[in-house]
Amino acid sequence: MQYRRLGRTGLKVSTLCLGTMNFSWSADEPTSHSIMDAALDAGINFFDTADMYSYWASDAHKGGESETIIGSWLKRKDRRQIVLATKVRGKLWDGPNGEGLSRSHIFHAVEDSLRRLQTDYIDLYQVHYPDDETPLEETLSALDDLVRSGKVRYIGASNYPAWLLMKALWISDKYGYARFDSLQPHHSLVHRDEYERELRDLCVDQGIGVIPYSPLAAGFLTGKYSRQQRHADTTRADSGLIKRLLADERAFDVLEAAQSIAGAHGVPVAQVALAWQLAQPAMTSPIIGARSVAQLHDLVGASEVKLSSEEIARLNEVSQGY
Ligand SMILES: NC(=O)c1ccc[n+]([C@@H]2O[C@H](COP(=O)([O-])OP(=O)(O)OC[C@H]3O[C@@H](n4cnc5c(N)ncnc54)[C@H](OP(=O)(O)O)[C@@H]3O)[C@@H](O)[C@H]2O)c1
Repeated sequence: MQYRRLGRTGLKVSTLCLGTMNFSWSADEPTSHSIMDAALDAGINFFDTADMYSYWASDAHKGGESETIIGSWLKRKDRRQIVLATKVRGKLWDGPNGEGLSRSHIFHAVEDSLRRLQTDYIDLYQVHYPDDETPLEETLSALDDLVRSGKVRYIGASNYPAWLLMKALWISDKYGYARFDSLQPHHSLVHRDEYERELRDLCVDQGIGVIPYSPLAAGFLTGKYSRQQRHADTTRADSGLIKRLLADERAFDVLEAAQSIAGAHGVPVAQVALAWQLAQPAMTSPIIGARSVAQLHDLVGASEVKLSSEEIARLNEVSQGY
């Protein structure tokens, strides 16, 4: 496993981060713990969750289930070896302040996350997506207080457009608040433009670490689908992303180009999709998802795969327009 500094911070994280939004539905608690054990054994020290995971899984799910599963694992581990990232913003309780990025919501939500995670600090506390109804000054001031109190070590943003992220950096600079040191955007070989159009240059210029989500396009880039076989053993069949890609012949051109490069390297195609991301400037750690130890084992070699400049150019060309 390789390690990189998260943006301009001194924090070193593995070049793969394990996402946990599938914990409690596509992976039960014992399986989730085995996946995290296998990740740690493979050198992954970076884990991503969110307070609202996984409210969508069933009527009994209310959010907080993923953090609870992580908490029962974390208490048996050496906390110093683990970089734990979670998020705040989504609806967690009823009432007008049950969601958002107000000082009020953040201060309640962080205590709930700490309790579920069974820890007294969060390494990376991320705003999950923007809240148009709260001034950014209020959000950043509240997050700065959490950093100063020691409950949070670093802060990051997810799903922010470039103008808003730049505005947030400006506010932090103006008032001396902690600043967003990471960005969690949607990005993969078949979803490039949203991040690459403006956010990439901003992250390079401002020293922001990038930790993209859905780097395997929810499983499309693992090779489980083909032009001839558009059904697979998956828990993601209802995903709008998967449905769209399975109906898109150009997406299979991208997959097949990656598969041919994977064949030359003798590695699973998913590792080529991840290695292509890791070759980009400002890229820190793609956030992978796995619902079994076997799936995880297929992915962890990605940090050792080195693509040639010709291979990267080929992948850039075939995926242009995404
Ligand atoms: N900030 C945000 O708004 C946001 C949004 C989404 C996700 N996230 C974060 O990003 C993480 C990863 O997202 P993601 O799950 O969409 O990532 P992904 O890595 O693109 O997709 C993971 C899915 O691919 C399939 N898969 C993985 N390895 C495989 C293998 N070796 N062989 C076959 N199939 C395999 C599995 O689903 P099946 O086996 O069921 O097909 C797995 O759940 C989440 O856990 C979460 O932490 C953040």
